[in-house]
Amino acid sequence: MRLDKFLCDAHIGTRKDVKKLIKEGKIKVDGLVAKNFDMKIDEEKNTVTLNGEKVVYEKFVYFMMNKPKGYISATEDKYKNTVLNLLPDEFKYYNLFPAGRLDIDTEGFLLLTDDGVFAHNILSPKKHVSKTYFAFVDGKVEEKHVKMFEDGIVLEDGYKALPAKLKILKSDEKSEIELTIYEGKFHQVKRMFEALGTRVTYLKRIAMGKLFLDETLKKGEIKKLTAEDIKKIEDDRYKGE
Ligand code: URA
Repeated sequence: MRLDKFLCDAHIGTRKDVKKLIKEGKIKVDGLVAKNFDMKIDEEKNTVTLNGEKVVYEKFVYFMMNKPKGYISATEDKYKNTVLNLLPDEFKYYNLFPAGRLDIDTEGFLLLTDDGVFAHNILSPKKHVSKTYFAFVDGKVEEKHVKMFEDGIVLEDGYKALPAKLKILKSDEKSEIELTIYEGKFHQVKRMFEALGTRVTYLKRIAMGKLFLDETLKKGEIKKLTAEDIKKIEDDRYKGE
């Protein structure tokens, strides 16, 4: 791989930035100052340093964001703030995008990555990766509703949702629930409760697969995910027919 590509992929800066760093003699390969931006390096074998610090090459990166309300799950928008506006400057050289969508008023676990293939895999309707939500729901959510979610709620457009797991945390005039679904239709959780004649008044995603939102993350903060974390996301899928 070319040295300038390696440095860009390692999120050091733009092509122009990294060429400048090389020109200034700030990049070394195996201890020798790199002279040419197009020199070939082997990312497995060569050690590249910037100002003496090892440059770590990562093909792709994955972040968990604790999304706040008021931001849309997109990379750009003319009128509304996007989740990318929440990222610190150092991430502007990462081509991050949200893998999946949360509504503007939904909070919680949003996955950001630059890995298109992975995003496609976990979002594909056929893969049925689970997502778990916490919600406040108007009115009493009761045991009979657990069975209805298990059987598959029919949405207003006639679509029968896959079986979902409803856990009642508080059954009252304002109920508190957790719901695990295995698909991601537009406004799905809200529409499922609307189909029962009630309304979600607060929604927060608390898990993707078996990976739970890190509740120590402040709203808008991100944290880098490890390979083990990523495996957990893919680890809970709908096993039905
Ligand atoms: N279901 C919804 O209704 N909204 C979300 O943001 C996510 C799931």
